[in-house]
Parts: sequence; C-alpha cells; structure tokens
Amino acid sequence: MVDKNKMRVIPIDSSSRTAQEIDAAITESVHQFVVSFGIGVSYFFKLLLQRPLIAISLIFGLLWLCYYATVNNWVYDVVYQPDAFLTWERVRWICEARAEVIALWWLAFFGTLGLFVLGITSQMIAHKYRQIFLSTKLVDGRGKTPALIKKRRLDKYRIELEFATNGIGIQRFKEKKDDLESSFNQAIESFNHGKTMSRVRIVLSKHRLPELVTFDEVSKEKPLADASFYVGHSVQGVLTQDIRQLPHMLIAGSTGSGKSVFFKQVLMGLLQSTENLQLYCIDLKAGLEMNCFKRLPNSYVVKNLSLAVGLMSSIEDEMRRRFKFLEQNGLREIVPERDGFDRIVLSIDESSVLTGKLPKTHRDYDNNVKAGEILDNLCKLSRAAAIHIVLATQKVDKTVLPTQVSENISGRMAFKANSVAGSTQVIHTKEAADLPQIKGRGIWLVGTTKHIVQGPFLSEDRLDVLLSQLVEEFQAGDRKLRQKMIHELAANKDTSTSRLKQTIKRKDSDE
Ligand SMILES: Nc1ncnc2c1ncn2[C@@H]1O[C@H](COP(=O)(O)OP(=O)(O)OP(=O)(O)O)[C@@H](O)[C@H]1O
Ligand SMILES: [Mg+2]
Repeated sequence: MVDKNKMRVIPIDSSSRTAQEIDAAITESVHQFVVSFGIGVSYFFKLLLQRPLIAISLIFGLLWLCYYATVNNWVYDVVYQPDAFLTWERVRWICEARAEVIALWWLAFFGTLGLFVLGITSQMIAHKYRQIFLSTKLVDGRGKTPALIKKRRLDKYRIELEFATNGIGIQRFKEKKDDLESSFNQAIESFNHGKTMSRVRIVLSKHRLPELVTFDEVSKEKPLADASFYVGHSVQGVLTQDIRQLPHMLIAGSTGSGKSVFFKQVLMGLLQSTENLQLYCIDLKAGLEMNCFKRLPNSYVVKNLSLAVGLMSSIEDEMRRRFKFLEQNGLREIVPERDGFDRIVLSIDESSVLTGKLPKTHRDYDNNVKAGEILDNLCKLSRAAAIHIVLATQKVDKTVLPTQVSENISGRMAFKANSVAGSTQVIHTKEAADLPQIKGRGIWLVGTTKHIVQGPFLSEDRLDVLLSQLVEEFQAGDRKLRQKMIHELAANKDTSTSRLKQTIKRKDSDE
C-alpha cells in the first residue's frame, strides 16, 4: 500500500516540481531577456553617442518611417483627435496586413531581437575579460576586476581596449603583461592611461612588432627601389617610401626617441638608392651627428647659422634656375634623368635651432629670419624642382615650425611624444604620446595613411662602412653627379663676382 501510495504520490510531486521548474525557467528566461535587452539598449545608445551622425540619421529615418506608415492614421489622431485614439478600428488597422504596417512590425521584431543579441554579446564579452583578469589575478581587494568600457579598432591588425581599472594601478597591468598576452592570445603594444587616471588603455596587436630591427635586416628583406628610403618594420613587413611622392618629410619626437638615428638611415637609404643625389646637411646642434657624411663627394655639411643661410639661398637660386628651365622647355616638373639635373636633399637635424625665433638683439637675428623665409619658400615651391627637405626636430610648436612649412610636409614620422599637444601637432592625433617607450618605435603618416613602425637601427660603425662603400663607388666612377655641387657653384660665383669687383676697383684707381 505504502508503495502504491508512494507510486501515487511520486508522480504528483514530480509533476508539480516540474511545473515549478518550468515556471522558474520561464521567469529566469524572461528575466534574462529583459536584462539582456536592457543592456543591449544601453549599449546601443552608447554606440550611438559615439557616432552622432549615424544616430541622427537613424532617428530621422525612424521618424520618417513612422510618419509614412501612420500619417492620417493613429499618429495623426493621437495629436489631433486623442479621444479617438484607442478604438477598435484603430486596433484592427494596426493588425491589418498593409505593407507599411508589416514593415513596422518587422522592424520592431528585428529591433528587439537585435538589441537582445547585442546585450547577450556584450555580456559575453564582459564575462570573457572578467575571466582573463581573474586568471591573471588582476583584482581589487573585493575581488572586482577591471571592466571594459570601450573597444576600438585602430587598423587591420590592432585594437584598443579601454577599461575602468576599479582601483588597479597601471603598473600592475604592466607587471602582468606576459600573462595578459597569453590570455588575450595577442601581443600587447602599450598600456596608457585613458581619459582619466581611473582608466587604462591597452593596445593589442595580432603581430608583434620587433623591438629592434637593423638597417641590414630590412635591406635584406626588401631592396630599395629608386629614390626611396626605409620607413621601418610595420606589421605588414618592411615599409619603404619613394621620396618623389612626398616630397618633404618631418621627423619629430622627444629627446632620445631615435630621431637622429632614423634621420641618418633615411639619408643612407636615399644615398644608396638614388644615383645622382646631392646631399646637404645642416647640423646646428653640435655638428657631430652629420660629420660622417662629410667624406662623401656628393655631400656638404654646415654647422653654423650664417653658412646654413648661405647654403639655403644657393639651393633657392638653384630652384629658380630649374623653374626657368621648366618654363623655357614647357615642362611641369624636373625629372633628373631626363633633364640632366641631380636630385637634391636638404636635411636639417634639430631644425628648431634654425627656425626658432631669436630675440631682435641676438647677433644671429637677421640670419634666423632669413633662414625661416627661405625654408618656407623651399617647402612651398621646390616640389617641382626635384629638391627635397628632411627636417628632424624635438620641438614642434608653431614658433619653431611655421604653419606654412608644416602644411607643405606630407611625410611625418612621429616618435614617442612628451605630450598630447606635441603628438597632435605632428600627426593630428594623440597616438604618438601613447607609444611605448621603445627607441625607434614611431608612427608614420603619409597623406591620410598611418602605420606604426619600428625604425631601422643603423649604428655609427655600420654607417661608416656603408659610406666607405659609396665613396669607393664614386672613386671607381660607378656613381657620378650630373651637375657641380650647388655650394661649389655658389662659391665660384662669389669668387668670380669678387674678382670682377676687384678688377673694376683696380680700373677705377688706374683711371
Ligand atoms: N631604431 C632604433 N632601434 C634601437 N635603438 C635606437 C633606435 N634609434 C635610436 N636608438 C637608440 O637611442 C639612442 C638615441 O637615439 P637618437 O640620438 O637618434 O635620439 P634623438 O631623438 O635624436 O635624441 P635627441 O633629441 O637628444 O637628439 C641611440 O643612441 C640608440 O642607442
Ligand atoms: Mg638627435
């Protein structure tokens, strides 16, 4: 009997339990749906706030659709005949299978579903990052992990994640770099503070950029095309640039970030890849950086301001001469191979010493003003004359880099910047301030294309060897210049004018 009773009781109990379980499951699902939907809605609005143009278009689109679907119907009535709003006719109208009504229903259905899926996805993403931080033990005292705030794709290979740190210092993130990299399964390029100190930005990259890449390594991987130089190793491989397409470039960055090394390897690349190149170097800092180029027959190095101004005005004269040639021959731009000219590169290391404003009382004031004017002119006009300018500078504000000059430079290499303002001046974004403290790591901007690169390292010894090879090539006659060096032309002109002046003087005195 007991068994029979039991047999009778068990199914009743079990069915009621099943009913309760079904009840609980339904409540749980509804709860989950509402929560996910809510998260989806908030996430959606967050996305829209980040993209105001899309948001405005969407709102107008929806308003238009509602207006189109319901004009002269319920929207109209709600406004003009509120008492006639909820009538049976109205309800029937909503249930009618008219195309615009069906479109609205579909929109509502897919909108809700989309927001639900968005909510679920963002919950799953948050869960994934929570697990990563738990496994790497990046938790605060109460077991709270950093929370994802923003995810942004920087380019094909890199994403930036911004987290609310929940009281965990950036230093602790840096200490856990190895663990985080293996959990994310991607290389971490940098850790930086976000908008506030309570946020941290992590840049993840699918490919790890090398922290050191030498000039010889990049040369082996990709030989230079005509009139080109190495920009560095990007995630896509070795990046080179044809100087004819720039035609001027700026190298900027804080002290010790790798400007001079990059500057010299650019010049080396150009010397190797351009058969007829005249290289002029202005090095006003100490005159030591560019000394090595002195032994080349096709280069000329100046170390003081008055000589620099003299050199620049000779280049300006050459530019005018070339313009005249273009005009006489009905041509648009100098092609050195066709027109019998040499390509000219004027390189200025620490250009702020040349163009930075000096007080009027300074003995070099006049030269300083003249240098600024000529540089401005050269940057503006020399595009068609096969004359290129390569500037390296630590300071980039308007007082040392006039807007006119800056506007005419389309190739920009930004190494680690000290400030957001410094970075913005060079590449129009703050990315250079966020770069990791790796020497030679920089952002290359040409036109609107941006690449993060590891600049090739060229040691002084190796540079010496490569320069010796070039000298030998000149001695063997394998390399030649088509023209006399510009400064020699100018010197000849000066001596001939002074000789002429002396003859005139002598004649005058004879008379
Ligand atoms: N691409 C690179 N790879 C590895 N190390 C580099 C690289 N570039 C520079 N370095 C290292 O950093 C040091 C400083 O570089 P560099 O002299 O080019 O800096 P800088 O930006 O010109 O500094 P300053 O503003 O003081 O002139 C170099 O001596 C070299 O050891
Ligand atoms: Mg330097």
